[in-house]
Amino acid sequence: MSKINTLIEKLPKAELHLHIEGSLEPELMFKLAKRNQLKLPYANIEEIKQAYNFTKLQDFLDIYYAGMSVLIEEQDFYDLTMAYLEKCQQQNVRHVEIFFDPQGHTERGVSFSTALSGINRALKDGLSQWGISYKTIMCFLRHLSEEDAFDTLNQAKAHLDLIDGVGLDSSEVGNPPAKFKNVFAEAKKMGLKLVAHAGEEGPPAYVEEALSILNIDRLDHGNRAMESAKLIERLRKEQIALTVCPLSNLKLCVVDDLTKHPIPSMLKQGLLVTVNSDDPSYFGGYLNDNYFAIQQALNLTSKDIITLIKNSFVGSFLSDDEKQKHLQSIDTFLNEQE
Ligand code: ADE
Ligand code: ZN
Repeated sequence: MSKINTLIEKLPKAELHLHIEGSLEPELMFKLAKRNQLKLPYANIEEIKQAYNFTKLQDFLDIYYAGMSVLIEEQDFYDLTMAYLEKCQQQNVRHVEIFFDPQGHTERGVSFSTALSGINRALKDGLSQWGISYKTIMCFLRHLSEEDAFDTLNQAKAHLDLIDGVGLDSSEVGNPPAKFKNVFAEAKKMGLKLVAHAGEEGPPAYVEEALSILNIDRLDHGNRAMESAKLIERLRKEQIALTVCPLSNLKLCVVDDLTKHPIPSMLKQGLLVTVNSDDPSYFGGYLNDNYFAIQQALNLTSKDIITLIKNSFVGSFLSDDEKQKHLQSIDTFLNEQE
């Protein structure tokens, strides 16, 4: 293990862009299919892995929605979330802000509260067993209507103690942020944090809409914002955090080579960029694997890595006091190394 990879492993980190349904490993998919007496369109784990070959976001989404159909009971959501938290514990991820897609479940007849309750029970256990803190963000599926999103927000009203924010995900091109203007305004009135996927495949204009029309607090992906000097300046000035996902970008052909990833340019231009795994089971790696891959491809320095890791706490929805505690623990660790 190189010195810089050891640093990546040892530093406490936060993950801010993680779809819990995208952490469903093929082994657990099979186990849950069996438990729920469902038949998967794959004969074995090898076949599942072979299907994970994508040329664009939609290729992945089709397989992702099919995969989550094995999640039926509260215990399934618990097992899924616990498996992710075990990875976090192994990789020294100390704080997570996870997404879930309620509509991916309610449209199959699995209730909002079944999904949320299983996820939340695991998050509470992860906090008590390992001290991993958390926030929960429910995403609206942007290929569905704003009316559907309102329905989902209404279902969330009975559970606001367990939900910290709303997000926007699924098929980006053709579903601009402005489509969800009213439901985001309503979520804001309810005191929820706002985030949205934008500029993953969609044009810079979608990032502009997410900022100016949805009033997001944080930008998920944002790669294509780098095509606009005006957007770069705004993101820098307002220090809006970007939750960038390198291995996801590679697998979904958002970049054709990690050596061309925009992270160095984002860092150089003073953006609050963070590294995340998005859907680790589908994209070939959890959080540390993302750091290892970009460090190697882009020859990032320890200073870059420390900045990215500190940004993961700065860009989180933790309180200022909590952020300071994490940043302090990073500095303490680094001072002990000298
Ligand atoms: N849902 C899960 N992962 C996603 C991604 N990377 N982009 C859009 N929607 C998603
Ligand atoms: Zn995502």
